[in-house]
Amino acid sequence: MAKAKTKFVCQNCGYVSPKYLGRCPNCGVWNQMVEEVEQTTAKASATPSRRVSDLESKPVKIGDVSFEREPRIKTDMDELNRVLSGGIVPESLILIGGDPGIGKSTLLTQVSGQLQKTGGKVLYVSGEESASQIKMRADRLGIKGDNLYIYPQTDMSYIRQTIDDMKPDFLIIDSVQTMDEPEISSAVGSISQIREVTAELMNIAKQQNITVFVVGHVTKGGAIAGPKILEHMVDTVLYFEGDTHHSYRILRSVKNRFGSTNEIGIFEMRTKGLVEVANPSEIFLEERLADANGSAVVVSMEGTRPILVEIQSLITPTVFGNAKRTATGLDHNRVSVIMAVLEKRGNLMLQNQDAYLKSTGGVKLDEPAIDLALAMSIASSYKNTGIPGTDCFVGEVGLTGEVRRVNRIDQRVNEAEKLGFKRIFIPKNNLGDWSKNNKIQIIGVSTVSDAMNKIF
Ligand code: TYD
Ligand code: MG
Repeated sequence: MAKAKTKFVCQNCGYVSPKYLGRCPNCGVWNQMVEEVEQTTAKASATPSRRVSDLESKPVKIGDVSFEREPRIKTDMDELNRVLSGGIVPESLILIGGDPGIGKSTLLTQVSGQLQKTGGKVLYVSGEESASQIKMRADRLGIKGDNLYIYPQTDMSYIRQTIDDMKPDFLIIDSVQTMDEPEISSAVGSISQIREVTAELMNIAKQQNITVFVVGHVTKGGAIAGPKILEHMVDTVLYFEGDTHHSYRILRSVKNRFGSTNEIGIFEMRTKGLVEVANPSEIFLEERLADANGSAVVVSMEGTRPILVEIQSLITPTVFGNAKRTATGLDHNRVSVIMAVLEKRGNLMLQNQDAYLKSTGGVKLDEPAIDLALAMSIASSYKNTGIPGTDCFVGEVGLTGEVRRVNRIDQRVNEAEKLGFKRIFIPKNNLGDWSKNNKIQIIGVSTVSDAMNKIF
């Protein structure tokens, strides 16, 4: 028998090399080259062998393409509908990634329970848990029904067969890394396997008109395990995040062929499953100590929704060596830039101070409009002077200390007013942007020093 030929495949980017390399020359990652058996069949090509379109398809004028607008399937969870831009698009392939134990299986079990109530047949394929374990979870979540089928299986050939026999409307694959395409001899979870299984699922979705949800594990770095190609192939990519020490979970859309991304859905993990959080701002501000030093509230846009989050700073003199800077939920570089601006343009002596900053509730804030709140929170802690608990901030800070205009100012102001804030500090240039008469006092600021003079 001829010796099986092997190749080394980078598990990060999919680069193929005939010999072992410590560092992938394509993406530069170390220790990710894994030996896989070379395929002799047509399957071995670098791109997935199955295509969504068939050979008979011809170019058509765009005006001649006929299509009926597919109604989106609404689940009972508005937060999920929001992340999917209104609901599930039938026949799409949706990938959900997240850390272990974050609640991916719980979310999909709940969604299955709702989808089968409307008459759709749901096939839940699990490669990670037995039928009784899934049943236990479903009982806990209060899911009953005749249209939900549990199928503990990892072999794709059996799964294909079952789909042909059963013709489900929805297919759940928990998880793609445990599925095994028997025609591929590489280990389960390897890059070739994941690629082939995903191509197969895409094929099932588009040709048999089945809506498919796929769970994907994430790597230590937080990306979905396997090559980026996995995210390129599917229609929608959602990340389920949050830290396991908090009960709040954030579902974020990072790719959506049928709608906008950057929408978030907020859930809370309770003993009976995931519950939607309709008004996140109230929760993020719940435990706030009003008027405390170093606390400032920002109105940040998450997708199309404004949420209010508290930014906390603790500025203390450096006792030994270099000043420390730590930021949780905030971009480290942004914090450094704002501190430098405060030092140079606001005359705060921050270079010999340690700074610890965080956004509360486990939310990650990354839009520029949080700058002003960040700056005021640092200034408040440095000056040991609290900011009134009924104040909030929005504005981008430039390197010359100017406060720059931000988008969607009306939505932000209205949300702050709704939550009972008395004053909102916004960029001066945003003042003329809308004409509504608000109860909340709107104060325009032009620079960080101007803002500090008005507050402290
Ligand atoms: P799970 O959905 O199994 O996570 P994943 O599939 O992402 O690995 O959820 C696991 C965690 O959720 C587990 O630590 C227990 C918790 N949990 C609840 O708090 N309440 C519940 O009703 C359920 C089903 C799980
Ligand atoms: Mg799971």
